[in-house]
Amino acid sequence: MKDKLFSGIQPSGDIHLGNYLGALKNWIALLDEYDAIFSIVDYHAITVPYEAHELQQRILDATAIVIAAGLDPERSTLFVQSTVPEHTELCWILGTVTRISDLERMTQFKQKSQQFYQTVNMGLFAYPVLQAADIILYKAKAVPVGEDQAQHIELCREIVRKFNKTYGETFPEPQAILGEAKRILGLDGQAKMSKTMDNTIGLAEDPKSIQKKLNKAVTDPARVRKTDPGNPNICNIFTLQHFFSTPSEIEYVDRECRVAGIGCLECKKILGKNIIAEILPIQEKYENLKYQKKYLQDILAAGSKRCQEIAATTMEEVREKLGMR
Ligand code: AMP
Ligand code: TRP
Repeated sequence: MKDKLFSGIQPSGDIHLGNYLGALKNWIALLDEYDAIFSIVDYHAITVPYEAHELQQRILDATAIVIAAGLDPERSTLFVQSTVPEHTELCWILGTVTRISDLERMTQFKQKSQQFYQTVNMGLFAYPVLQAADIILYKAKAVPVGEDQAQHIELCREIVRKFNKTYGETFPEPQAILGEAKRILGLDGQAKMSKTMDNTIGLAEDPKSIQKKLNKAVTDPARVRKTDPGNPNICNIFTLQHFFSTPSEIEYVDRECRVAGIGCLECKKILGKNIIAEILPIQEKYENLKYQKKYLQDILAAGSKRCQEIAATTMEEVREKLGMR
């Protein structure tokens, strides 16, 4: 039997190149090596303000785009977190073996508490505990994520150790799997590309809009005029070239940027052309899939059924270990 893999994505906004490069591509690459379970994590998404009437559509959109990107539902399990209520039950139990001081250390909590300072709530604080429940409910060993989530996986391991020590060996310690693109920066070249910030390139975004955004994106800040030589080492556009452009194109922009042989706009045109060439087939599939509501709902329902069965078995074991049965 293959080891289990678990990962999740929030249905909180359009899926962007950070998600694609940092997580999605890795999910797809690992499909055959593991028994892979992927969740659209709606319980996580409601820890910051959101529009309830948009949630179902966002869930379907996220489902369609991940499938369009190559997450084959025949070779993996895809489901919506809130359709398996054991996630919240286990979250409560894990909360009793999680130290408050550990949760207070979490970088994402600190960041989001600042960003959403008017609505900091207990769910946001317990977010990593729910994430730990997601993973261990299926006894997953592998968790492919972007670097921003590595700290949460480390905490999950700590929670597992504490649970196993208190109640007896029950869960394996999961391992984060980071891909080549660990942390993609947004168009400002400073902050992480993120759904809750206006700094993204969407995977389903119109090619014209992508090129327009790229043209305005921040490059080497010291390069003010086209005649100034640039430094690709500190240019976010150059970093992105590595994920989309050919070795000879990368070598060309690297060389020509340093001697002001080309301007930023030319470099961005090369990048834009390559991004669009890679994501166009995904967009075409997505355009077709997003209207097939029944097909998407059936995939999610089948995933949910399988996950409910696994979750029920795990929770029986957990309740027994806790003396609740
Ligand atoms: P989220 O959009 O927060 O639900 O994230 C879904 C997945 O994408 C997680 O594995 C994140 O670590 C990953 N991810 C999100 N933003 C980035 C980014 N800017 N760079 C790399 N990975 C990212
Ligand atoms: N917190 C993750 C993110 O925002 C999403 C997530 C929820 C997740 N549960 C998970 C990722 C379990 C990996 C495993 O990126």
